[in-house]
This record gives sequence, C-alpha cells and structure tokens, in this order.
Amino acid sequence: MSENQIETKAVKVALMGDSEVGKTAICHAFLEVDFILGGTSTIGIDRYDKKIKLKNKKEIKLILWDTAGQERYRSAAFKTIRSVHAIALVFDVTKRKSFDNVNIWLNEIKENFDNPCLILLGNKSDIEKEKWEITTEEIEQFAKKKNMAYFETSAKTRKGIDEGFSHIANVAYEKIEASKRNVEEEEEEKKIEIKKEPKKKKQKKRQSC
Ligand code: GTP
Repeated sequence: MSENQIETKAVKVALMGDSEVGKTAICHAFLEVDFILGGTSTIGIDRYDKKIKLKNKKEIKLILWDTAGQERYRSAAFKTIRSVHAIALVFDVTKRKSFDNVNIWLNEIKENFDNPCLILLGNKSDIEKEKWEITTEEIEQFAKKKNMAYFETSAKTRKGIDEGFSHIANVAYEKIEASKRNVEEEEEEKKIEIKKEPKKKKQKKRQSC
C-alpha cells in the first residue's frame, strides 16, 4: 500500500434472497447468537457488524446488511445499501422455488448495483437430504455458470458460515484494493501528462520562431 492510500477498514456485504430462506438466522449464526427456530420476518433492513481477520492478517470490520425477502420492502432496502461491496445470495435447499428465484435476484442486482462480488449460500443444509429439492451437483453447475462461489450453510449448526463470509470478505477486500491501485495509477498518469504539457508548448513556440 502506498503512503497516500487510505486503508480499507470495512467490507460491506448484503444478504439477499427469498423470504424465509434464513438470512436473519445466518447473520445471527455469524455473530454466534443462539439459533432459535421460528423468528420474525425482517422489515426493511438490519445491520450487523463483526471484526474478522483476513488471509493477509489484516483486521477489518465485516458489515452485514440483512435485507427483507418480501418484495414490498425491497426498493427502500436497495437505496440504503447501494454502496455494498458484495452480495450473498441465499436460498433454502429444501425449497426449489427459492433456488429458481436466484435468477430473478441476479437480474435485480444487475439493475441496482455496480458489479458487486457475489456468493451463493444454500442454507438449511442440516435438514435431511430426502427433503432437499435441489441436488448439490445442480447447484454447483449453476454457480459455476454464473461465476459465483458456492457454500452450503446451516444457520442451525453454523456449517459453512465462517467459511462463506471469510471467502467473500477476502475477495471483496482484494477488489477494493485493486480498484484503489487503478485510481492511483490513473492519477499518476494524469500528473505525468500535465507535467509534459508545458514542455510541448515551449517546443512549439520555438519551432514557430
Ligand atoms: P425474511 O426476513 O422474511 O426475508 O426471512 P429470512 O430469510 O431472514 O429467514 P429467517 O432467518 O427469519 O428464517 C426463516 C425460518 O427458517 C425460521 O423459522 C428459522 O428458524 C429457519 N431457519 C433459518 N436457517 C435455518 C437453518 O439453517 N436450518 C433450519 N433447520 N432452519 C433454519
């Protein structure tokens, strides 16, 4: 990191997906709050913060925005979280429709966000396989096609929760740092061009004499 570059201190991740897939439960699991079966639907948007260590040993704050799955709250939530770095798309492995709707969510993201990092979370994986309505192979194929990392999670057992968020935090952090480097390089190039400019004019003057 150069002297002028401001250190990245937080990575913002929004959780999206159909209602009842377990977005709030995943946030609670991430914060290590005890799992409660049941619970109420999110109205609007909630925020959860937790400090985590990245692979490069840097400590950052991971800010989770838990959005409401219900459509009527969606546009207000999107306005609040327009600047997120990443989105975790959640579906319920026992609800085919919530998986099929991931495509709809992807379209909404394309329309409302500026190319965030994406991760796919197949939640409620603690439930017995007989009740799953999608196979792991099908999900993995879909995730590969859409260029998203996929994690099977359970808010109940905490399976895949730390792994999933650690992955997206590292990827998003690298992307933020890379875009800062690009801006710095562009600024440097501009400075060089400005310095070159007067010389050119001088030369022209001499030529004209
Ligand atoms: P909205 O706020 O309506 O968008 O729902 P949500 O996606 O936040 O779902 P929520 O976290 O409220 O969970 C819905 C239901 O699924 C609740 O009864 C949870 O207890 C249950 N649930 C969530 N995650 C899991 C899980 O990993 N395993 C099991 N077995 N149940 C889960």
